[in-house]
Amino acid sequence: MVEFTLDGRPATASEGELLVHAAARQGVFIPTLCHDDKLEPYGGCRMCVVDVEGAPRPMPACATRVAPGMVVSTNGSTTDFRRTLTEMLLTEHLDPNPGGRPNELTDLAQELGAEAPFILPDAKREPYEDRNKLMGYEPDSCILCNRCVRYTQEVMQCSALSLEGRGGEARIVPTWGKSWLDTECELCGGCLSVCPTGALHEKFLTGADVEESALTKVKTTCTFCGVGCQLDLNVDPATDRIVKVTSEPHYVSNEGNLCVKGRFSFNFVHHPDRLTEPLVRGEDGELHPATWEQALQVAADGIKGVIARHGTQAVGFLASARLTNEENYLIQKLARNGVGTNSVHSCEAT
Ligand code: SF4
Ligand code: SF4
Ligand code: SF4
Ligand code: FES
Repeated sequence: MVEFTLDGRPATASEGELLVHAAARQGVFIPTLCHDDKLEPYGGCRMCVVDVEGAPRPMPACATRVAPGMVVSTNGSTTDFRRTLTEMLLTEHLDPNPGGRPNELTDLAQELGAEAPFILPDAKREPYEDRNKLMGYEPDSCILCNRCVRYTQEVMQCSALSLEGRGGEARIVPTWGKSWLDTECELCGGCLSVCPTGALHEKFLTGADVEESALTKVKTTCTFCGVGCQLDLNVDPATDRIVKVTSEPHYVSNEGNLCVKGRFSFNFVHHPDRLTEPLVRGEDGELHPATWEQALQVAADGIKGVIARHGTQAVGFLASARLTNEENYLIQKLARNGVGTNSVHSCEAT
């Protein structure tokens, strides 16, 4: 452990720990914008600067590691610096809410009591329109923190996004200005998930009156494959419908990362053709709604009938990679112990 002084009080940190993390553990919140725990230290936006005794200028807490004997002040001159920096960012933040995603810049502005003193005459950036239907980019919301590009390179290991242009013309665009669909992008939405302002957002929510903060999050497991990523279904309480999917960095096994299926393929839940109750074929040859008890009884009678006529080896079970480990375990248990057959297979094993 390393000992240092934080806002006049003695504090400790693990060797090599970033100042922003060490301070958070001591209950001292240092605002950040370009920092993301999933990404390598960057130090680009300067929102997290703190005074370090002996340093010639304020240091970014997100990119400075605690050293023994360091004397750090988070509430001195840097408070005014943060407010000024926030005001500067607001002077070209023309669209704070393109898709209802949380906006860390406007939240911070509210906390610091910062407002745009004026709007820069060249604040408007060239619009970007992409033909994909899932992810949109609004340059007038972008603070050029580069989190999205770093995510693509460091986490997703793709090179689908890059920073283009300079000054008032700078934007984030898919590489070579192509559509996302013409790059190696898999539409996983990971770059969108780390964007602090919502500049990258779910395109299908553009203009919709849906604030993520007003949605009800229901934690669940993705049903599409056996990886079992944890995610939150964001349900609109007014309509009781899922409007988007998010995931948190502390969720196992995916640490907030999802693939295109987990993040964007949720509409099946509300599809009118979806089976929502058991159906049992009647004497008339048609399927009729039934209770689970009735349906399970019919299935059990059917299996018992086959066993009686042809023996246990005539029965086989098909499990699914879309079930959880526990459910697949129970299916083989039923097959081997309940019925007495080793014929258990997965529909996705071929
Ligand atoms: S959506 Fe995923 S694959 Fe596409 S650019 Fe973003 S991080 Fe890369
Ligand atoms: S799109 Fe979002 S994450 Fe990317 S640079 Fe702009 S504000 Fe940052
Ligand atoms: S999000 Fe993708 S990888 Fe994760 S469980 Fe769903 S389908 Fe599998
Ligand atoms: S959050 Fe530290 S420099 Fe941006």
